Amino acid sequence: MTNQIPEITLHDGIQIPAVGFGTYKLKGQQGAQAINTAITNGYRLIDTAYNYENEATVGEAVRRSSVPREELFITSKLPGRYHHYDDAIVTIQESLFRANLDYYDLYLIHWPNPIQDNYVEAWQALIDAQKFGYIRSIGVCNFLSEHLERLEKETGILPTVNQIELHPRFNQAEQLKWDTDHRIVTESWSPLSRASDLLQDKTLQKIAEKHHKTISQIILRWHYQLGAVAIPKSASPVRQKENISIFDFELSNEEMTMINSLTKAEGRLKGQDPAVYEEF
Ligand SMILES: NC(=O)c1ccc[n+]([C@@H]2O[C@H](COP(=O)([O-])OP(=O)(O)OC[C@H]3O[C@@H](n4cnc5c(N)ncnc54)[C@H](OP(=O)(O)O)[C@@H]3O)[C@@H](O)[C@H]2O)c1
Repeated sequence: MTNQIPEITLHDGIQIPAVGFGTYKLKGQQGAQAINTAITNGYRLIDTAYNYENEATVGEAVRRSSVPREELFITSKLPGRYHHYDDAIVTIQESLFRANLDYYDLYLIHWPNPIQDNYVEAWQALIDAQKFGYIRSIGVCNFLSEHLERLEKETGILPTVNQIELHPRFNQAEQLKWDTDHRIVTESWSPLSRASDLLQDKTLQKIAEKHHKTISQIILRWHYQLGAVAIPKSASPVRQKENISIFDFELSNEEMTMINSLTKAEGRLKGQDPAVYEEF
C-alpha cells in the first residue's frame, strides 16, 4: 500500500509517523475539512501550534474522523510569550481546551528565543506537563546545538524531536547530524520550501522523470531517506495523497548527493536564524 506510513521510535519509546501533515493556515470549516480529508487519506501525524490559532480546527477534524484518537499523533507548540513556568503550564492546558483533547502526543517549544533566555524554564514546564499526563512526548523547534546542550546540562533531559526549517535549499546537514548523534528525531518544516520555484528545479525534474514521480515526491522521499520527518501542508486532497505516495521507490546515493548539492548557506526561506530571530 502506498499510503501506509512507516513509524520511527523516539528515544522515549514513543512511535512517530515518518511523514506528517502541516496545518499552518488551515482554519475554520474549510480547514477542518482539509485536515479530516488528510486523515482519511492516511496521515496520522497532525502538526498544529497555539500560534496558528487552529488547534480547535484540528480537534474538530479529529472528532469528525472515524480513525480512533489513539491511532493519531497530534502535535502542538508553546509560543515564545509563554516561556515562564506558570504561563507555560496554563498554556498547555489552554491548548488542550482549545482542541478539546485530553492529551497531545507531542508538544514542542516553538522557538528558543535566546535573547529572552527563558527556554530552560519552558522546558521544565514541558517535563512536568508530561508527568501530569498532558503530553506523551516532549520536544522543541528551531533549537541550535548550543540550546539543546543547555537543556541537557540544566535538566538532564534532551527533547525527542527538533522541528527545524529543512528542504533541499537548506539541508541542515550539521544540525541533522547533531540531532541524530543525540538520538533526537529531526522534523522538517516547510519541507517543500513552501512550493517555491524549487518545484521547477531542473535537477529535481530529471530525477523525478527517472522515477516517474513528481518533484514534490522526490523531495519528500529525500527527507525520508535523510531520516527526517517531513510535515508537508496541502489543502488539496490530490496533493495530500501525492505527498505520502513515496514508499514504493528509492533514491540512489548519487541522487541523494545531487539533491543535497542544491543547498546554500543563505537558503532559509525568510532568513529566520534561531540564534537571533525570535517569535512570540
Ligand atoms: N516550527 C516552526 O517554526 C514551523 C514553521 C513553519 C511551518 N511549520 C509547520 O510545517 C508545516 C509545513 O510547512 P509549510 O506549510 O510552511 O510549507 P510546505 O509544506 O513546504 O509547503 C506548503 C505549500 O506547498 C503547496 N503544496 C503542497 N503539496 C504540494 C505538491 N505536491 N505540489 C505542489 N504544491 C504543493 C501547498 O499548497 P496547497 O495547500 O494548495 O496544496 C502550500 O502552498 C506547516 O504547515 C506547519 O505545520 C512549523
